[in-house]
Amino acid sequence: VWSMASFRETKIAEIRAQVGTGKVICGLSGGVDSAVAAVLIHEAIGEQLTCVFVDHGLMRLHEAEQVVTLFRDHYNIPLVHVDAEAMFLSGLAGVTDPEAKRKFIGKAFIDLFEAEAKKIGGAKFLAQGTLYPDVIESVSFIGGPSVTIKSHHNVGGLPERMDMALVEPLRELFKDEVRALGRELGLPEVFVGRHPFPGPGLGIRIPGEVTKEACDILRLADAIYLEEIRAAGLYDAIWQAFAVLLPVRTVGVMGDGRTYDRVCALRAVTSVDGMTADIYPFEPAFLSRVATRIVNEVRGINRVVYDYTSKPPGTIEWE
Ligand code: XMP
Repeated sequence: VWSMASFRETKIAEIRAQVGTGKVICGLSGGVDSAVAAVLIHEAIGEQLTCVFVDHGLMRLHEAEQVVTLFRDHYNIPLVHVDAEAMFLSGLAGVTDPEAKRKFIGKAFIDLFEAEAKKIGGAKFLAQGTLYPDVIESVSFIGGPSVTIKSHHNVGGLPERMDMALVEPLRELFKDEVRALGRELGLPEVFVGRHPFPGPGLGIRIPGEVTKEACDILRLADAIYLEEIRAAGLYDAIWQAFAVLLPVRTVGVMGDGRTYDRVCALRAVTSVDGMTADIYPFEPAFLSRVATRIVNEVRGINRVVYDYTSKPPGTIEWE
């Protein structure tokens, strides 16, 4: 009988066989997948693993601190925290094409991982929490769809020439299986139950140009939305919920004045594996509460809309 306990043992043996006495760098994104991959690999090879958390400035509110705390304090796994906000934002300046954003972010990640690999005396392996759906939705080289929908940065976004070999122990798993493995490995429930968050982060939730100002506005709106979702007890019923900041300005009225600010779209879906999704049918009163709070509390947004598109034909993320 296939079980998570035996999967764990098999993977640990495979990881040891693949890396031998080599050093491994594991990129942490703040999401469940990379966290589970890191803990599994740490079990397999201990001190040979170094985790790298690249803060690209495209994280959600307080997310960077949470990741660092979990790994350093809870697990005691060596963690390098790279503050790369300035580098990412300057590289994204003027870039509006979604695939160009994804390619830039993927390449910048790899450059930083390679630099860190050199610093720790030459890591030969890069570990990632790639899942099966990332593999099939991403690129044609693995025999998936002939049309690339998006280059998930941890698959299709990798540069063709990279000095490190990939270690991807979760490549056969779906999200629910990764969560089961995370529980098996003793990860805290709050972490295991987190909604997925894409590697390119807020960079693909700001259609058009990504600026620091737009990220700051979006972080506040997103935090209010999620706070209300948690308060309503809906977090676990939803696969993923997030705000998107549109590059569109509309006219509004506040007090005695005219406003001309940006539009925020709210997304929430249910799904089993991220491959297909249905919209989450909030009560109208819930949505108006969130809309009112966002417009009142976030400067720069004066209108909120709800995305009613299932996947397909929409995708979960907007880019
Ligand atoms: P889409 O937008 O393709 O998203 O329907 C499906 C699921 O994948 C996540 N996603 C990503 N995850 N790197 C990731 O690690 C990426 O580049 C990426 N793009 C999308 C998305 O959040 C959803 O859960």
